[in-house]
Amino acid sequence: MSYKVAVVGATGNVGREILQILDERAFPVSEVVALASEQSVGREVSFGEDGVLKVQDLASFDFTGWDIALFSPGAKVSATHAPRAASAGCVVIDNTSHFRMDPDVPLVVPEVNGHTIARHAKRNIIANPNCSTIQLVMALKPLHDQARIVRVIVSTYQSVSGGGKEAMDELFNQTRGIFVNETPRNEQFPKQIAFNVIPHIDVFMDDGATREEWKMAVETRKILDPDIKLSATCVRVPVFVGHAEAVNVEFEEPFSEQDAREAWADMDGVAVVDQRADEGYVTPVECAGEDLVYVSRVREDPSIDNGLSFWVVADNLRKGAALNAVQIAEVLTDTRPAIAAA
Ligand SMILES: NC(=O)c1ccc[n+]([C@@H]2O[C@H](COP(=O)([O-])OP(=O)(O)OC[C@H]3O[C@@H](n4cnc5c(N)ncnc54)[C@H](OP(=O)(O)O)[C@@H]3O)[C@@H](O)[C@H]2O)c1
Repeated sequence: MSYKVAVVGATGNVGREILQILDERAFPVSEVVALASEQSVGREVSFGEDGVLKVQDLASFDFTGWDIALFSPGAKVSATHAPRAASAGCVVIDNTSHFRMDPDVPLVVPEVNGHTIARHAKRNIIANPNCSTIQLVMALKPLHDQARIVRVIVSTYQSVSGGGKEAMDELFNQTRGIFVNETPRNEQFPKQIAFNVIPHIDVFMDDGATREEWKMAVETRKILDPDIKLSATCVRVPVFVGHAEAVNVEFEEPFSEQDAREAWADMDGVAVVDQRADEGYVTPVECAGEDLVYVSRVREDPSIDNGLSFWVVADNLRKGAALNAVQIAEVLTDTRPAIAAA
């Protein structure tokens, strides 16, 4: 059995990674089409070692006869075109925020709640969570299974690739410009990102939180447990690829650091690297290009009852987006390979 697969947003950060991962994991495709905006029509994108696909226009593309569409063209574009693909009989796996909280759309991380994929039938759409949520719930799930999590405090250190290819260019150009005394131009970010950190991702909400912080809370509840309380502070940092998170968890009952390590040892897709020594932890630079979610700096938090602190990093373009979407496609088609070891 092989599948006709459309990659929507194929010229972007996530779309290019999706094409690469489909090839790396030998997803059984009979045909692949690369779709993007009108301005990219005719551009070439790589597929596999030697493959080249000519980009076609999403707006005029007919999804009839296509099996799966992996969407990452931004929320507004998905809002218009994902339902069009879905009603043509193509199952949509959407990376944008648009459908995530729709009660008729499952929000899926295969290792955490893969069983919910079956609930896509109503709309023919499956949503991929936010990149920061994915790596967080991967780390929380095995702990929550052992000792219920009551509350999570998380601070993120999110790379610029999470903001798309133009955001990566802005960090590059500002960094280079500062060395030759150019005044930084802020177009993709609200303030200078080179040699700085910005506690503001997505728009502000009425309660003072940003929408990125709200997404982490509501998505974690939808995926893991509606009773978990979560407070996030989301920060953009001048790193190209790889999101990091400092996480503090409060459990309902006593749960030791050793209990946590044992729980993570059994979790597919999570690796603990924690030697309490120079280089004995993982940073974003090392996780770029990797499939696993890495946990480091694990320690009990003596300031509260049943508290645990740790550090989580993952490649936001892979597990945080493209890999998770392709894994959903694998579950959907029952073609799932073993998760690659580090
Ligand atoms: N980057 C991450 O870590 C991450 C993680 C999870 C989810 N996401 C979500 O995934 C989406 C894409 O992110 P990205 O980082 O890949 O952004 P990106 O690098 O800016 O790429 C955007 C892609 O969307 C296409 N596009 C834009 N407008 C379009 C239109 N009107 N019709 C068809 N295609 C259009 C672009 O095509 P052109 O080149 O033709 O403009 C490009 O292929 C966003 O919604 C983002 O929130 C990103």
